[in-house]
Order: sequence, then C-alpha cells, then structure tokens
Amino acid sequence: MRVLFTGAGGQVGQDFRDVLSGIIPSGGSATALMGSKEVTPGEFEVFGIDHASLDVSDASAVQGTIEHIHPDVIVHLAAYTAVDKAEEDKEGAYVVNAIGTRNVAQSAERVGAHMVYVSTDYVFAGDKGRALVESDETNPLGVYGATKLAGEQECPPSASIARTAWVAGVRGKNLFHLAAAVGQDGRELRFVDDQIGSPTAAADLAAGLVALVRERPAGLFHVAGSGQASWFDAISFAVEAAGGSRSQVSPIATAELDPQPAAVRPACSSLASERLASVGLSPLPEWQDGIGRLVAAIIQESST
Ligand SMILES: NC(=O)c1ccc[n+]([C@@H]2O[C@H](COP(=O)([O-])OP(=O)(O)OC[C@H]3O[C@@H](n4cnc5c(N)ncnc54)[C@H](OP(=O)(O)O)[C@@H]3O)[C@@H](O)[C@H]2O)c1
Repeated sequence: MRVLFTGAGGQVGQDFRDVLSGIIPSGGSATALMGSKEVTPGEFEVFGIDHASLDVSDASAVQGTIEHIHPDVIVHLAAYTAVDKAEEDKEGAYVVNAIGTRNVAQSAERVGAHMVYVSTDYVFAGDKGRALVESDETNPLGVYGATKLAGEQECPPSASIARTAWVAGVRGKNLFHLAAAVGQDGRELRFVDDQIGSPTAAADLAAGLVALVRERPAGLFHVAGSGQASWFDAISFAVEAAGGSRSQVSPIATAELDPQPAAVRPACSSLASERLASVGLSPLPEWQDGIGRLVAAIIQESST
C-alpha cells in the first residue's frame, strides 16, 4: 500500500513515518494501534512530504505531487498550528487549513486515494462540562479551530477524519519538555486548572492513524489519549514522572494569565469516541500511559 502524508516535518509526521516503517517511535508503544496488528517493515511504501517540498496551499503543486506518487491513501497532517498567531493572521490560517485541505482532497479524489484528515478538539466551544463525542455540535471559539473545521468540511464523505487533542511528541515543541526539565531541576511552575482536555502522545496518535490507513473507515472519529486532565493535572503528572514533586506545580485560573493569550481556548474539550468501536477499533491508551512514556523518552534522549 502506498501511503503519502503531508506535514512530514511536524511532531506527528516524524512519529508517523516511524510507525509506517515498522519502527516504534521514541516514547511509543505497540499497544496504541487501536486493536490493529503490528506493522511489518515494508508493509507500506512511505512518502512523507514536508513543507519545504510542498506548500499545500499551492493547488497545482499538490496535484502534481499526488499524481506523480499516485498513493492509495493520503494522510493530511500539514496545518497552520500556531493557535494564537492565527487570531491576527486569519487569512494565512484559512489558506493552509481550509484551502490546503481542499487541494489535497481534490487531488486524492482524482487519483482515487482514501483520505485521512487530522482535526482538533478546538472545533468545539467546550462549554458542556463533559467529554465530547463525534455527534456533539461544533462551535469553534478561535480562528485555528474555525479553519480546521472548514478543513473537515472540504473532505469527501468517504474520508476518515480523526479529531485529536493536546498532542505532544519527543520531537515536537511542547510543554512536556519543560515539565521533564522541571522535574529534574526542581523549579516551580504555574499551570491553569480550568482548561480540561485529552493529552495525547504523538507516538500514540501516529499508531492510531495507521489503523485508519488500514481500515479506511468513513466519517468522524475522536482519536486522543483516553481520559481527561487539566493542564495543571497533566503537567503535575509529568513533573512527577520526571522525578520531581507534584508540589512544584501550582494551579492558576485562565483569567489570571498575564498576558492573556490571543486565542480563547475551550474550557472542557476532552474527546471520547462513540464511533471507533462501531468500526472494530479500540481507543488510544490512557493519557497517563502515553505521557508517562513521552516523559521517559524525553529524559532518555536528553541524556544521550
Ligand atoms: N499539536 C496539537 O496539539 C494538535 C491538536 C489537535 C490537532 N492537531 C493536528 O494534528 C496535525 C499534526 O500536528 P503537529 O502537532 O504535528 O503540528 P506541527 O508540528 O506544527 O506540524 C505541522 C506541519 O505542517 C507544516 N506546514 C505548515 N504550513 C504548511 C503548508 N502551507 N504546506 C505544507 N506544510 C505546512 C509545518 O511546517 P513548518 O513548521 O515548516 O511551517 C509542520 O511541519 C495538524 O493537522 C494539527 O492541526 C494538532
């Protein structure tokens, strides 16, 4: 099976390349394949496309690349992910997240490839005070969420849309690198305890995406670390996993942040799935499992 994926230089893309190649990425686990079997090296012909090789907002370049490679499946990971910057660059975010996805979807259709699109919990307002399932109503609070939702709407009905949340990889820029360092050097941190989500290890998401590549289920699926946590919970857990103490982290309210971030985040956008089981797939591991492995891998990589 020929698999082309965009966003190959991003944190999920780098782990996804490993999983497709039959390698468990740093911090990954064979148990994250959502019930799908282990990948054997050579099972997939892998074509990871990074930003330098292809700008997804360039329709003719997208068409040329996809027609040349002629994949069976396209996993569209590339996105404008700067959530706060997007508030003042609405056009830039829209061009990448909506038009870029349209370009990929149209070319996928032209070559008859199945499309997998990765979306976000930020499509929700997060005002229900509970975990959200695929049938819950969307209502993004910010530009990033709105443009990713527009991307969902560009996908054909046959596409697999995987909404994920709070993704962190060993090779990405994310707050768990800070938490791992703080767990080892004893500094103190403050994190908000009134934003709740589903922390997701990039390696686990990458494994879950392989299950979608194999099964090609149509429609929306929530694919995120199981369970829920506030940022305060998740960072305290990570500091402790790195050898520190939970008492190094203090809770604060979002309203106390100074300066206030440009984008408003959902208060409670943890994701649960009512649809994975219907296509024979199981959810990703508990978030503590994924984040525990992530922190151990960050520490191991920083010491080598
Ligand atoms: N990270 C999260 O917490 C999170 C949560 C929910 C959903 N997601 C979704 O998961 C997917 C993967 O995210 P990630 O965490 O791996 O993000 P990431 O590390 O920011 O990777 C995104 C990649 O897209 C590339 N890109 C940006 N604009 C592009 C363009 N015009 N053409 C081609 N490539 C472009 C970026 O390249 P440059 O860096 O060179 O611009 C980057 O390598 C995205 O679709 C994202 O929306 C992420």
